[in-house]
Amino acid sequence: MSGGSGKGGGGGSSGRGGLHVRVKTARKRSVSSTRWLQRQLNDPYVRRAQAEGYRSRAAYKLIELDEKFGFLKKARAVVDLGITPGGWSQVTRKTNPRARVVGIDLLACEPIEGVEILEMDFMDDAAPDRLIEALGSAPDLVISDMAANTVGHPQTDHLRTIGLAETAADFAVQTLVPGGAFVAKVFAGGADRELLSLLKRHFTTVKHAKPPASRKGSPELYVIAQGFKGRRMDKANG
Ligand SMILES: C[S@@+](CC[C@H](N)C(=O)[O-])C[C@H]1O[C@@H](n2cnc3c(N)ncnc32)[C@H](O)[C@@H]1O
Repeated sequence: MSGGSGKGGGGGSSGRGGLHVRVKTARKRSVSSTRWLQRQLNDPYVRRAQAEGYRSRAAYKLIELDEKFGFLKKARAVVDLGITPGGWSQVTRKTNPRARVVGIDLLACEPIEGVEILEMDFMDDAAPDRLIEALGSAPDLVISDMAANTVGHPQTDHLRTIGLAETAADFAVQTLVPGGAFVAKVFAGGADRELLSLLKRHFTTVKHAKPPASRKGSPELYVIAQGFKGRRMDKANG
């Protein structure tokens, strides 16, 4: 375990100068897991996360999105959907130590200083109330890196992850304070039209971005919605 207070976020080594590691296919290891292991060992973001005390390479996706869109510094009450292993919450607290953060995940997450963690399914009807109760106020930032377990069928994986993003967006629209922001993982592939139209109705700006830390071959990208217009919009838009 790398510890919650990691010293990540500043400068640090990119790990690019390191040796390339080759992994031989062991008898009990499949070709695909050998390939995964080799990619992990040679990934500069993995090395950097280890060196800087972040629990996941995903931490750098949030850092890079925040560098471009600047939503972390002003956040005071943050909900992290799909928190485990905890990289995004570490980044949030590191960037903004005054932020209160509540995270939720199906999987257990090691404690992070200043972060309350709920181990439960976000799709459970009770989850929204539990999150707001734990936060003690309405959030001004909802971040979601939730991904459905992939089944290897791209269309199914895409639809399941979009389903999570849509539920996360509904939660954001129901709970955010005016001016708040929403950031979520989606998959490229065209099935997110409803999600975009919901976000465009409720936020002043809605953008897509693929941070450099997101692997090139992956269909993953992020939607960043800023300037929540408030729930009055529901009546105006029917
Ligand atoms: C890519 S990981 C998140 C990584 C995290 N942002 C970080 O930086 O460490 C996606 C997480 O979403 C969680 N997840 C998927 N479906 C979920 C659900 N219905 N409720 C809660 N968490 C869920 C998974 O268990 C997984 O831990």
